[in-house]
Amino acid sequence: MPPIPTATEPLLRVRDLRVAFRLDEGTVRAVDGVSFEVFPGQVLGIVGESGCGKSVTMRAILQLIDPPGRITGGEILYRRDADPIDLAQLHPRGRVMRGLRGAEIALIPQEPMAAFSPVHRIGEQIIEAIMLHARQSGRLVGRDEARAMTIELLRDVGISSPGSRVDAYSWQLSGGLRQRAMIAMALSCRPRLLIADEPTTAIDVTTQAQILALLRELQNQHQTAIIFVTHDLGVIAQMAHHVVVMYLGRVMEEGPVDDIFHAPRHPYTKALLRSIPSLHPDTRTALPVIAGALPHPLNRPSGCPFHPRCDEIMPQRCAAAVPAMHANGPRQGVSCFRFSDLAERA
Ligand SMILES: Nc1ncnc2c1ncn2[C@@H]1O[C@H](COP(=O)(O)OP(=O)(O)OP(=O)(O)O)[C@@H](O)[C@H]1O
Ligand code: SF4
Ligand SMILES: [Mg+2]
Repeated sequence: MPPIPTATEPLLRVRDLRVAFRLDEGTVRAVDGVSFEVFPGQVLGIVGESGCGKSVTMRAILQLIDPPGRITGGEILYRRDADPIDLAQLHPRGRVMRGLRGAEIALIPQEPMAAFSPVHRIGEQIIEAIMLHARQSGRLVGRDEARAMTIELLRDVGISSPGSRVDAYSWQLSGGLRQRAMIAMALSCRPRLLIADEPTTAIDVTTQAQILALLRELQNQHQTAIIFVTHDLGVIAQMAHHVVVMYLGRVMEEGPVDDIFHAPRHPYTKALLRSIPSLHPDTRTALPVIAGALPHPLNRPSGCPFHPRCDEIMPQRCAAAVPAMHANGPRQGVSCFRFSDLAERA
């Protein structure tokens, strides 16, 4: 576990964020009122089943939502200087957003293929990014120096023979190598906020450990804030200081990592924890899975979004209204009508 940083002002404050995709068949409310904060030097873990809106939330921060998707509400306050700027209000291709993207806020996307241009060598793209970022911060870094830095970065993320791979095209690399090159690209400008969306899915266990160590070092030495999105609760336990649990575009529970793992409150958090393989060493026993399937995005349940799958449901109440987030501490809360008996049991 990395040390807990001490900054008191959040670097990023997301408030009641909403993103919708307007399709012919209806509107998908992919992000439906999400709020969280990220502090300098802190690792925020975001978990939830597939389709819960994690990637859409991350892409919204960088104004990377493609039509028919649109940010329909809320604020994304980023503290650049003394006054925060609302990223939700920026033009996606405007000067300010282009200046922030990659340089101050970097994304390791879930689909690394899309992030590299197929007609340019991967090293070239990282070299250009390093030189551009240096120019923007009033320094001069020559091409040879930027190339040497790039080779070093490729080595850091576990790419063997980086001196020759620097000249490879992205389509010449395996999925795992491409993902590592993407991580190198994201780290190249020393961002203040790094958004890592399932950064190690196509990577073997040994390299995964190496990359997690690299991210921890970054957080620790440079006070980089990291939002770490993953299905892997084991990785969250190792990496995160604070955890947000999402379901159907909403936050179900949030709190410090120890509380989420040792005193979970929300029925959904508890169900997620019950399904971690590492907590069930006898893998011959079938793992308990969360009952029922995620509803179709166009067919959101009324009331509490989790009610059709919840084993603690109060049928009259839970299907009729959406529970508000009930705070049980600073940046700690649960969105459930049963918050008081959940607290007692926790
Ligand atoms: N381009 C799009 N058009 C329509 N709906 C979309 C689009 N992109 C995302 N969505 C919808 O937004 C919802 C959230 O998707 P998102 O990719 O954020 O999920 P996720 O939590 O990142 O899942 P995973 O863990 O599988 O990556 C899904 O219901 C998805 O169908
Ligand atoms: S509000 Fe009701 S349905 Fe939703 S998680 Fe709580 S008990 Fe379950
Ligand atoms: Mg995703």
